[in-house]
Amino acid sequence: MAKRKEEFKLTKPLHHVAFIMDGNGRWAKARGLARHYGHHEACKRIIEIFEVCRKYDIHVMSWYAFSTENWNRPQEEIDHLMDYLEEFFEQQIDYLDSVGTKLIVSGDLSRIRPQTREVCYKAIERTKNNTNWYINICLNYGSRDELARACRMIAEEVKEGKLEINDITPETISSHLYTAGLPDIDLMIRTSGEQRLSNYLLFQNAYSEFVFTPVKWPDFKEKAFVDCLKEFQGRARRFGGLKNE
Ligand code: IPE
Ligand code: IPE
Ligand code: MG
Repeated sequence: MAKRKEEFKLTKPLHHVAFIMDGNGRWAKARGLARHYGHHEACKRIIEIFEVCRKYDIHVMSWYAFSTENWNRPQEEIDHLMDYLEEFFEQQIDYLDSVGTKLIVSGDLSRIRPQTREVCYKAIERTKNNTNWYINICLNYGSRDELARACRMIAEEVKEGKLEINDITPETISSHLYTAGLPDIDLMIRTSGEQRLSNYLLFQNAYSEFVFTPVKWPDFKEKAFVDCLKEFQGRARRFGGLKNE
């Protein structure tokens, strides 16, 4: 009888995983479908990968849903993306709340259409006291905008006499980002073979391990994710020192 394969055990500390869910358009095109089918399929992977994170006790997840640069896409595609985001929240919020997930949205929601914004605010409000799992959705998010916003807030505090210039530390900056209070990212995964950050969580990714997989996001299921976790587990995280973690 064939021996059952041993389940992978994650032993390296992994508190926060960040995803750039890329390749939806190419996935759809390869099937002769319109790009938005790829985005729809992509949403199904989010909840599946969330389950795998729970299985491996990874408590914080960041997801790149829409970048500040994605406004360059056709309006029709943007509308589809917002439709699917609303659908995701509507379908999953009861479940996410029931397992104690707190939803955080990073990004400037003022430019997001009102109904999508409302769905986000409702989910944030409903889950604000949950502490088991953290889902950070990056929506109309850009790291450069986030850092400029943090600078403005810090400058305002200095102007009001609440903060001394010499007291500004990396922690001050961290605490003025959308991700304030969340741990630094340990692992950043980008699917579809592209190897760049695309303005994603630049400060929070300062010491993360990057794993790039050729798998397109709609095909990114448990096995592909576990392969990334294995690669992460094999990395020596030195943080500038000499000893392996
Ligand atoms: C990522 O997939 C999803 C979003 C940017 C919202 P893409 O739509 O970028 O897919 P490709 O890169 O064109 O294949
Ligand atoms: C990054 O993917 C943004 C999201 C996944 C939401 P893109 O496909 O927009 O990034 P570029 O344009 O290839 O850098
Ligand atoms: Mg892309």
